[in-house]
Amino acid sequence: MNTLTEPLENRNGQLFIDGVSARDLAEEFDTPLYVISERRIRSNYQRLYSALTCNYEKVKLNYAMKANSNFAVLKILETEGAYVDAVSPGEVFTALTSGFTPDRILFTGTSVRTDELKFLVDSNVTINIDSQSQLDRLLQISVPKTLSVRVNPEVGAGHHDHCITAGKQSKFGIWEPDVLTAYETAKKAGVGKFGIHMHIGSGILEVKPFLGALEKFLSVAKRVHEQVGVDFEFIDVGGGLGVPYKPEDKPLDLQVFSDKVLSLFKARTSQYGLGEPFFCMEPGRYLVADACVLLTAVNTIKKTPFKKFAGVDAGFNTLLRPAMYGSYHGILVANKMFATEEEKYDVAGPICESGDLLAKDRRLPILEEGDLLAVLNAGAYGYSMSSQYNTRPRAAEVLLNDGKCKLVREREHLDDLTRGQRQSAEWSK
Ligand code: LLP
Repeated sequence: MNTLTEPLENRNGQLFIDGVSARDLAEEFDTPLYVISERRIRSNYQRLYSALTCNYEKVKLNYAMKANSNFAVLKILETEGAYVDAVSPGEVFTALTSGFTPDRILFTGTSVRTDELKFLVDSNVTINIDSQSQLDRLLQISVPKTLSVRVNPEVGAGHHDHCITAGKQSKFGIWEPDVLTAYETAKKAGVGKFGIHMHIGSGILEVKPFLGALEKFLSVAKRVHEQVGVDFEFIDVGGGLGVPYKPEDKPLDLQVFSDKVLSLFKARTSQYGLGEPFFCMEPGRYLVADACVLLTAVNTIKKTPFKKFAGVDAGFNTLLRPAMYGSYHGILVANKMFATEEEKYDVAGPICESGDLLAKDRRLPILEEGDLLAVLNAGAYGYSMSSQYNTRPRAAEVLLNDGKCKLVREREHLDDLTRGQRQSAEWSK
């Protein structure tokens, strides 16, 4: 059973999201539909920010916009006081267009092209470098006022191998001795202000992996400070805070996280003479995952001698996580919230691959064609990883705020699918 948390509510057997009926939303905007709660994004931000600032005053949260880059989401977090972690020129452009000023954007890309570095320099954002090659090419273009280096702290963690971003197998970050060379190079070139960064992975529900990585990371910061003479304006420990997806997942205890991480941070920064830099984090998932559900309608009930399938209109083109990582997403039947009788279903999308299942062998109320399903925790890496695979238009997104709803991204249409393609009379001969 999924326990309902804000913004979800069962009103007389019907799912309401932030006071709005899921049925009405599906009727007005059609499905598949991403429904985002403004209130929940704000409360997630405030909960995390206050849990951290009660232990340390100088905190900045760089929202990892790869999780959800809708303008509406960016604007909400901008007004909360967030900064942004961007990983591509496209993300920088989107953040700037949504109203973030360049001084609130930190770029943390990998395998960055030289023309992309030029774009970043022209955009005036702070760059977090991921390799000596990137640094050398950057310095040939311009010497930035502030620079940060992404350190590989030798240990990573994450909900899936694909989401572990530190340690021996990882392409990310710079290893200890080379970190010193990078800061020396930057200092010699005339860079005046510095930060330091790590990001160990994504979907972490325990504090322990953060503590191990932080210990190593801060020891590297100490060497850079002592041997290269660098003072840090900010120390960025990355993102990775998980959210519970499965009913048995225990949420991360934010207060325990903050107490343990910040007491280690304060002890080491003081012991190593690192002063009082900003403590930065880059949460993506934590801020937006549970602020959004994906509504999808059942169009087909199909029984085989072996299985029962509920065919829906959202496949891995709309929500990739189950197919890509085997991720679990809770599913509610929005129009049968009191139903108790259950059967096991594979919830299958319209994509022509057998891996196109939003859920496998999932116990759900008895389903009929026309039922409306709500796929939970769809706000992080949902729309942002969606595609036009099988030549299907992407879904629409609506934002809920105080019982009002606004379309914040139009559903794509058939002509969006062919945009940019060239037809030549010659080819058909
Ligand atoms: N900072 C950096 C440099 C990152 O690469 C990421 C995520 C984050 C912050 C934010 O991590 P978060 O707080 O959201 O865990 N598509 C996968 C997640 C990939 C995350 C990649 N990097 C998923 O759906 O689970």
